[in-house]
Amino acid sequence: MPNRLDQQVEQFNAALAQVTTAEALYELEVAYVGKKGSITLLKGEMGKIPPAERKAFGAAWNRVRDAIEAALEQRRDFIKGEARARDLERIVDLTMPPLRPPQGSLHPLTQTRRRLSETFIRLGFDVAVGPHIEGERFNFDDLNVPKDHPTRDMQDTFFIEAPRMHGLTPDGPAMQELVLRTHTSPVQIRTMRTRKPPIRIVAPGATFRCDDDATHSPMFHQIEGLYIDEGVTLADLKATLMAFTEDFFGHRLEVRFRPSFFPFVEPGAEFDLGCPFCRGSGCSLCKGSGFIEIGGCGMVHPKVLSACGIDPEIYTGWAFGFGIDRMTMMLHRIPHLRLMFEGDIRFLEQFPC
Ligand code: DAH
Repeated sequence: MPNRLDQQVEQFNAALAQVTTAEALYELEVAYVGKKGSITLLKGEMGKIPPAERKAFGAAWNRVRDAIEAALEQRRDFIKGEARARDLERIVDLTMPPLRPPQGSLHPLTQTRRRLSETFIRLGFDVAVGPHIEGERFNFDDLNVPKDHPTRDMQDTFFIEAPRMHGLTPDGPAMQELVLRTHTSPVQIRTMRTRKPPIRIVAPGATFRCDDDATHSPMFHQIEGLYIDEGVTLADLKATLMAFTEDFFGHRLEVRFRPSFFPFVEPGAEFDLGCPFCRGSGCSLCKGSGFIEIGGCGMVHPKVLSACGIDPEIYTGWAFGFGIDRMTMMLHRIPHLRLMFEGDIRFLEQFPC
């Protein structure tokens, strides 16, 4: 029996010398001094040796077990130390720049929207908001859009039926059809109904139309402007738009009105800005014309003022509206509208802020 103990110790020492990993060391520990380890089992066989030798064997066994445990401990420390030295060699490069977690940024459209709002705030405007789901009344009726106007057509407007079916709008004769707002102009109505002139607001936000092709998205963005007070004229509009260009593009651009029709303004116009890139001399962005079409504008129609409880005999005002998406594309020279709505991280990463 003592011989077997010596044998085991020899085997253990030989095996220990080969061990280089914490896992292998653990296996070795289990094999020798674990519950069913060979050294542990030897103790169970003590009954088989003559009683006179038992005491000496027990003492020897204890010494062996202590020695094995000490050797395991020592080896464990050694392996740990080696691993740490390897890590230090590999990881600690004090000249290495720190690892930064990936950082998000605002969507280029959000950046443009915020810049537009900030510009108009500097010019004395408040920022107003309205809901995406709008009543036909504010989206069309109160803006003087005739009942049979083609823009109300199912093909242009997203009508919403679900809220009525679920009783989310009050029933009765006053109940109106709900739509996804087709422009930001209903925010004019909401503002005029709740505020007294002088009113000076811009209202940026998402708008929706049944339009989906390479150059149109069913969800797009506009910004609306509205100024109502006594004695407001088209000259104020032109001056405001010029001041806007100076602040937004960093230099004053020409503003050009072309007569046009929108039911909620009279007279109505479309407005162009001198091309901010070539400053009017003609380039690929303005297709050589020196001007870029921006949006619609005009003097608020007296019927619209009346519908909102503002006396058109006392007050006049102007409004404008234009798309933010195209303006963003122009600013960053983004070639395709769809890029802005696909959420492709490779695109978005190009607009850190
Ligand atoms: N709401 C118009 C559209 O979506 C744009 C517009 C034109 C807004 C003239 C105005 C305006 O405020 O006066 O096409």
